[in-house]
Amino acid sequence: MIRVGLLGCGNVGRIIAKEHVGVEITALHDRIPERTEEAAKLCDAVVYRDFSSFVKADIDIVVEAASVAAVRDHAEEILLSGKDLVILSVGALADGEFRERITALAGANGRKIHIPSGAIIGLDNLKVGQIAPFTRLLLRTTKSPESLNIRAGKRMMIFSGKANDCIREFPKNINVAVALGLAAGREADVEIWIDPDVDRNIHEIIAEGAFGEIFIRVSNVPSTDNPSTSYLAALSILTLLKNLNEPLVVGT
Ligand SMILES: NC(=O)c1ccc[n+]([C@@H]2O[C@H](COP(=O)([O-])OP(=O)(O)OC[C@H]3O[C@@H](n4cnc5c(N)ncnc54)[C@H](O)[C@@H]3O)[C@@H](O)[C@H]2O)c1
Repeated sequence: MIRVGLLGCGNVGRIIAKEHVGVEITALHDRIPERTEEAAKLCDAVVYRDFSSFVKADIDIVVEAASVAAVRDHAEEILLSGKDLVILSVGALADGEFRERITALAGANGRKIHIPSGAIIGLDNLKVGQIAPFTRLLLRTTKSPESLNIRAGKRMMIFSGKANDCIREFPKNINVAVALGLAAGREADVEIWIDPDVDRNIHEIIAEGAFGEIFIRVSNVPSTDNPSTSYLAALSILTLLKNLNEPLVVGT
C-alpha cells in the first residue's frame, strides 16, 4: 500500500488523515505541534516535530496541504529524498523559475509532482488547450465579503485582470487560477466578485476554442474552520491518492 506523509495538518490535512481510502497515512508534520497531535488521533501515523526527520521517513509520497511558503521551502528536499509530491498550494508554481527548477529536479530523480483539481472540477480535459489553444480562458470567482475581510452591501467586482497580477493583489485566492493555467497551457483571465448574498465559494470557468465552449460552475461549501477552503479540495486529494496505482486510468 502507498505510504503517505502529510505536510500540513490544518483543515485539509485533517480531512485527509480521517477519510483516506486505499493508502496509509504514515507520517505527519506541521509547524504547529498541536495540529500534528490532533491529526495523529485520526490515523495511525508517526508525528515528526522537525521537517528533516519527516522527509526521511519511510514514505512514498508527500501531500502538501500547508502553504505556498512550505512548497517553496521544502519541495526540493522532498524530491531529492526520493518522494513524489502532491502540491495543493499551487500558487507556489506561479513563479516560473521555481516551477521549472522543481519540475527538472523531479524529472532528473524519476519522481512525479501531482497537482490535484483542488477546489474546481475539470483540470483533466482543460488540458486539451495544450494541443488546441483556447481563444478564451476566464476564471470568475465569487465569495462572500466576510471571507475576504471586506464590507459590501451589494455584489461587486473587486478584481479583473491576468492571473499573474491577481497573485499580487489576492495571494490567498490564486491557487485555482494557477492550476487552470498549468492545465490549459496559457495564463487565465481572472475576475473576483464579492456578493453578500452568497455563502459559498463559487468558481465559474469559461473556455472557448476550436472544439466549442466550456462552462463549469462549482459551488463549494466553505469549511467552518477556514472559509477560504472547501471540502472539494480535500476530496480531490483523497481521490488522487486512491487512484494513484490503479491500472485503469479514467479522465486524464
Ligand atoms: N488548489 C486548491 O484549489 C486549494 C484549495 C484549498 C486549499 N488550498 C491551499 O492548501 C493549503 C492548505 O489549506 P488548509 O485549508 O488546510 O489551510 P489551514 O490553514 O487550515 O492549514 C494549513 C496547515 O499547514 C501548516 N503549515 C503552514 N506552513 C507550514 C510549513 N512551512 N511547515 C509546516 N506546516 C505548515 C499550518 O500550521 C496549518 O496547520 C493552503 O495553502 C491553501 O491555500 C488550495
